[in-house]
Amino acid sequence: MKLSRNDVCWCGSQKKYKKCHLELDNKLSALRRVGYKIPPHSMIKNEEQIKGIREAAIINNGLLDEIEKQICAGMSTEDIDNITTKYLKEHDASSADYQYQGYPKSICTSVNDEICHGIPSKKVILKEGDIINVDATTCYHGYYADASRMFMIGNVSDEAKRLVEATKECLIKGIESIKPFQSTIGDIGKAIEEYATSQGYSVVREFCGHGVGLAMHEDPYIYHYHTHTPTCVLVPGMVITVEPMINQGKRFLHIGKNGWTAYTNDGLLSAQWEHTLLITEDGVEIISQ
Ligand code: MF3
Ligand code: CO
Ligand code: CO
Repeated sequence: MKLSRNDVCWCGSQKKYKKCHLELDNKLSALRRVGYKIPPHSMIKNEEQIKGIREAAIINNGLLDEIEKQICAGMSTEDIDNITTKYLKEHDASSADYQYQGYPKSICTSVNDEICHGIPSKKVILKEGDIINVDATTCYHGYYADASRMFMIGNVSDEAKRLVEATKECLIKGIESIKPFQSTIGDIGKAIEEYATSQGYSVVREFCGHGVGLAMHEDPYIYHYHTHTPTCVLVPGMVITVEPMINQGKRFLHIGKNGWTAYTNDGLLSAQWEHTLLITEDGVEIISQ
């Protein structure tokens, strides 16, 4: 069904199509004609939705800041979960992780050789030299934001520090590849994998970034490695995460006995950083910072 200029826009803004997404649709059609794969409208957020996602991101960042302030050797990962439930409650928000496909806690805490989905536990006590990824997804008034950071506990080895910093650089390189109306989802993974391998590291393939906003996980998948399958061009209004998991050794993993936590097969370290990003008219905005 083709909308007329004076019809209400498909995005839910209640504005006339000609004053809303008509111009975007014309640009998308032009890109399609020159061979690009185009994202469906369901991947494009309207202004109201973006406002809601920003509000969720502010709380999610505040939570990670609070954890950053408190995290130290001697603390258990369950303590991080307790900070999370308290902080989110105080901010009228909730954890998107809690009971997601049966996930038992409110945040993910992945230590050393744990790649992702480490489950907070009283038994896991942080010690000097550990590296830990803390991954938080906040739901606020129906909108979602997702971000994670690495923390180094006390003095960590030079090798661990180098991995943590290179992984952050992988995220930055992925973000810098984004050029609205020009680059594709595939370009993100290409940039990440090129940098990771140049540093002697490998990229986990089993977990990807994703669309986010009205749910924790939405289409499209965001690959962190060079995929040779065609992927969509990135356009304004898309909200996605980039969250590379980078291994010191080989990329291969296994899932532990709890059914959630992913570990490196070779027992070497893994790191991850994640941001929620909004594609804008002329670039990209990191909304989770
Ligand atoms: N925050 C994770 C992500 O980046 C998802 C965690 S789901 C959970 O996509 F159930 F493990 F918490
Ligand atoms: Co995510
Ligand atoms: Co996350």
